[in-house]
Formats: sequence, structure tokens, C-alpha cells
Amino acid sequence: MQQTYTAPERVVPPQTTVRAAVLGLGIYVPPRLLDNHELATRVDTSDEWIVERTGIRTRHIAAPDQAASDLAVPACLDALRDANLRPADLDLILCATTTPDMLFPATACLIQERIGARRAGACDVLAACSSFLCAMITAAQMIEAGLVRHALVVGAEVLSKLVDWTDRSLCVLVGDGAGAVVMGPSTSGAGVLASVAHADGGAGDMLKLPAGGSRMPITEEVLAQRLHYPRMDGRTLFKLAVRVVPEVIEEVTRKAGLTLDEVTWIVPHQANQRILEAVARAMHLPIERFICTIDRYGNTSTASIPLALEEAVHGGKIKKGDHIAMVGFGAGLTWGAMVIKW
Ligand code: UT7
Repeated sequence: MQQTYTAPERVVPPQTTVRAAVLGLGIYVPPRLLDNHELATRVDTSDEWIVERTGIRTRHIAAPDQAASDLAVPACLDALRDANLRPADLDLILCATTTPDMLFPATACLIQERIGARRAGACDVLAACSSFLCAMITAAQMIEAGLVRHALVVGAEVLSKLVDWTDRSLCVLVGDGAGAVVMGPSTSGAGVLASVAHADGGAGDMLKLPAGGSRMPITEEVLAQRLHYPRMDGRTLFKLAVRVVPEVIEEVTRKAGLTLDEVTWIVPHQANQRILEAVARAMHLPIERFICTIDRYGNTSTASIPLALEEAVHGGKIKKGDHIAMVGFGAGLTWGAMVIKW
């Protein structure tokens, strides 16, 4: 009789998904505080106007000898301590900044040297206020692809050194600071669930720093025309932000397989409290679900998301198992979002 062969049932090992997760957080803000009342003694503005139109009450300002890396280093060391890791454990450092110490070397390399992360590769990411999210997306993808194990992502900004302190439309908005996250692989289910990044280069004129690059090197004529200072069409940018931010939060939430009700916290770039309130209204979400820190920090560009994230995590708002949606937007125009299971 012919024997029939029955293959033993294949035992398929359970798939363990490796996700990039945040292992530690750190921040640093310079001690000098500049409130609206003091600002009003320097430019034609008032505490009432700034609070009503932006929600900002005070901001931290770097000392004359403090550059982006000086703010970044303590934030990075703080994040490493929080993650219980040493600088030598890092494989990658990404610095998100629009105010690098200098055009090159990259600020990430200066940080690498100063914290002694000898094994780590290092480079800067530049997408204006969306840089921190772009850097986190890059680090997460590299971790999930197995290219690196531990990555440090830092947003460090010294906008006070860049703005025209006689231009009341911009100088009242900015603040200095740095925030860092250490990311690494996790198999616990926590970590990045979805990310998206968008850009519209056609809207680049809305917020730009015309001079100081290869298009328009600094000359006496450039200085006389004050083209070495940033310019912003605030009103148009405001309207664009209120349109793209809800869209991108909904997009990334869908991509993560969640509904908006399942997103516990939204951690947005802090450009204007009124933008956040308009976004909350448009999305029919209570503003209490948004982490808002702009009243105390102003707009710190690349540092605003990690500053808000750190405060919400270490302040006990964000808890293990929460779903958080981080969302950034800024010059470029650039915008993007990421959902993390904490
Ligand atoms: O970080 C990412 C990118 N940035 C943003 O997303 C920022 C988006 N834009 C904004 O947040 C707001 O547009 C601003 C806060 C920049 C400006 O607020 P606004 O309500 O849009 O004011 P506005 O530019 O329409 O100006 C209203 C008035 C003007 O006076 P008139 O023309 O109505 O007489 C301005 O000259 O307010 C005046 N103004 C000020 N008054 C006192 C502008 N800046 C100031 C000031 N203090 N600092």
C-alpha cells in the first residue's frame, strides 16, 4: 500500500514587530526670561496685543555667548540619563535646527564631540519648524530598518540671534531652547505607529531668510536692506496652518489604524495659541487634548515639540499606553506628523 506523506504542521514563530520608541527625554532652556512687559519697552508693542494674538507671555533668551550646540548639549545629556544610556551607546545623532552654530560643520557633529558619542554618525536636518519631526521620522526608519540601534534626536534653537529686534511682527514671537529624545528599538508594542511628511515649495516666500546663503551672500548692500533677517507673511501662514494641521493629524491617525477618539494627546508645534485653538475647533476636539506650552516658551521652532513632549511626559500627562500625535509645520512650507504609542 502506498504510504501518503503528511507534512507536520508548520510552527510559525510569532512575528515580533520592532518599532522605534522614545527611550528618554531631556530639555534645556537658558535661564534669562524676557516677558512681554520688558519687550514693550524695546519695540512698539504691548502685553495685551501679544497675549491676545499669540498666547505668549514670556520666553527664554540665550546669553550672548550661547549658540545652538550650547543649548543642545545639556538637553542631550539629560535625555541620555533619562534613557539610562551612555553617549558611547549612540549610533546616530540628528540635530534639527534653523540656527546652527555655523553653516558647517553640522551642529550635530559639534554635539557628538562635546558629549563624547564617538561611535555615532551625525548630521543636521533642516525643514524649519518641521525639522524635529523630519529628524524623528528619519531616526525611526533607520532603527526599524536595523541600520542603527540608538539614535539621539535634538531640536535646538537660538532664534533670538536671528530676528530683527526692531521688527515687532516677528521678534515678539520667538524664544530659545532645546529638547532631545533618545530613540531605540522596542518589541513591547510601544513606539512609532505611523508618520507622514509633506512640503509645498511653492509657498516658500511666506517665511524666509533671504540672505546669508549662496543665493545672496552677505554684503554691505544686503545688510543695509536688512535682508539678513527673516520675513514672514504671518496672516497667510496662519490660515495655511489651520488648514494643513487638521488634515495631517487625520491622515497620520488613519495610517496608524486609529480614530481621532483613540488619540489621547496632540503634541503640536507651538507657533501661536490661536492656531492651536482654531485647529481644535476645526477638528471638534477639546483644546485640553493639545499640549500647549507657548505661553512660557514662545515659538522655539525645532525645539517646540520636544519641549512640549518632555513637559507632558515628565509632568505625568502622557502615560504608558497613550496614543500621541505630534504635528509640525513651518517654512518651506513643510508639515508632517507622527503617531506614537507611549
Ligand atoms: O512657526 C511656524 C510659522 N509661523 C506661524 O505659523 C505664524 C503664523 N502667524 C501668526 O501667528 C500671526 O499671523 C501673527 C502672530 C504673526 C500676527 O498676528 P495677526 O493677528 O495675524 O496680526 P496681523 O499681522 O494681521 O497684524 C494686525 C495688526 C497690524 O496693525 P494694523 O495694520 O491692523 O493697524 C499690525 O501692524 O497688529 C499690528 N501688529 C502689532 N501690534 C502690536 C503686528 N505685530 C504687532 C505687535 N504689537 N507685536
